[in-house]
Amino acid sequence: MRLTRLALWIGCAVVGSAVGCSNQSGLSGTDDGGTTDARPNWYEDMAPLVASNCQSCHSDGGIAPFSMNDYEETRPWAAFMAQQVAAGIMPPWHAVETETCAPPFPFNHDARLSEEEIQAFIDWADLGAPEGDPTLAVSIPPPIDPNLKNPTATIPMQGSITVEATDTTLDFVHCLSFDLGNTENIYLDGIQVIPGNPEVAHHVLMFIDPAGASASWQDGIREDCGGGPGVADATLIGGWVPGSFPFQSPAGVGVEFPAGARMILNYHYHATGGGPEVDDSTALAVRYSAQPPEWSSFFELVGAPGVGTIQDPPFLIKAGAKDHEEVVDWFVPDFGNVDARVWAAANHMHKVGVDMQTSIIRGGEEYCLVQTPSWDFNWQRIYTYDTPIAEGFKVENGDIVRVRCTYDNTMDNPAVLEALAEVGETEPIDVEVGEGTLDEMCLVGLGVAYKPL
Ligand code: HEC
Repeated sequence: MRLTRLALWIGCAVVGSAVGCSNQSGLSGTDDGGTTDARPNWYEDMAPLVASNCQSCHSDGGIAPFSMNDYEETRPWAAFMAQQVAAGIMPPWHAVETETCAPPFPFNHDARLSEEEIQAFIDWADLGAPEGDPTLAVSIPPPIDPNLKNPTATIPMQGSITVEATDTTLDFVHCLSFDLGNTENIYLDGIQVIPGNPEVAHHVLMFIDPAGASASWQDGIREDCGGGPGVADATLIGGWVPGSFPFQSPAGVGVEFPAGARMILNYHYHATGGGPEVDDSTALAVRYSAQPPEWSSFFELVGAPGVGTIQDPPFLIKAGAKDHEEVVDWFVPDFGNVDARVWAAANHMHKVGVDMQTSIIRGGEEYCLVQTPSWDFNWQRIYTYDTPIAEGFKVENGDIVRVRCTYDNTMDNPAVLEALAEVGETEPIDVEVGEGTLDEMCLVGLGVAYKPL
């Protein structure tokens, strides 16, 4: 076996190309191209890594463009996988530490790989994606159950949506309104979006419509509703991307959902181009209790448009502006005699945005809650802290919540190109605050839980 490994290295050196070298070496005495004991290999190293970190999206029926169910399927992608993993693009995760941001706690379901894991992807590709020996296969961790545990109710969408590619677009945004049917206030602690047609589910923003204004929508649908909820007063509570876990609040925390309120999903559909595709079965699974929990929670929308004062108004991102910054400050009011803690943050911008940071300013010190420096409109999530609520980050009267957003309104920004193409423009245009694709926002939905002192 030693000899085989040596042969492999020679083979790679001679061929001089990363992918496939082991199979081209021809120097081996084993059936699988001399790679049996090369490490890392599929059976001993990569299969469990891929199962835990990639297959939730990269498997049959998943949202990614190719599957990694087994060695045969995965091998051709080894070099591309290594490149995407090394660049931090895969698995998708956007809340990271930076020079200006050290979040107070780790986030739940942090998808990032360790240095060693990243190195394993690189080494595997460099070795030519060896298969290894199936008799040495290590056990594969069972897939994590992606479903909300013990939902109280699962609510189907009312109507039906058809998406079909046109000459100019594959993308459609429709708002779906869900009636939870509660005649009393309830307290939500879990929400799961169950896409009806995963093939066309691109991403979703979740809003509470407290007055139930969307009840008037025919079939519970408002088509082409842009970047917002489609009603005047609604609260962003977070985003969902395929492959992400159900939204759950920490133990003891429930989000107040008034009687008569509705849940609105701002649903971005992406047509595959293969003909009309129908979604008539998207559902919302929710878990709630009728009893107020120990900690009540609400989402405060801070920024523009939201509560807060825009520094240097007007909010205007000139055509061609690069590194343009908008800052909005909100002075935390007196909540009364309560203990209030931040447990969730959902940064939100549109397509001109490139970086966003949400912080608390207290006594001249800035405490960063979350930064998303490689902003991607398509991968918006609600980030929740992995800490008991009683130890969560405290907010007090006198604090300032500051959101700082950076925009690139030039053709160097691929998302700007995309947004312009959608409206048939070829040059950047001035961008103001609003809900349309070519408007911008600098908004955070902060999950705040409180209890009487
Ligand atoms: C949350 C879902 C998700 C997870 C988890 C995920 N991917 Fe992906 N991956 C995607 C999607 C969706 C695409 C298609 C490109 C896009 O939309 O960004 C993609 C594309 C890719 C591509 C092709 C890039 C391109 O531009 O076409 C590679 C390579 C890749 N993923 C590797 C990985 C590896 C390796 C892992 C695990 C370490 C992983 N992905 C985990 C969803 C995911």
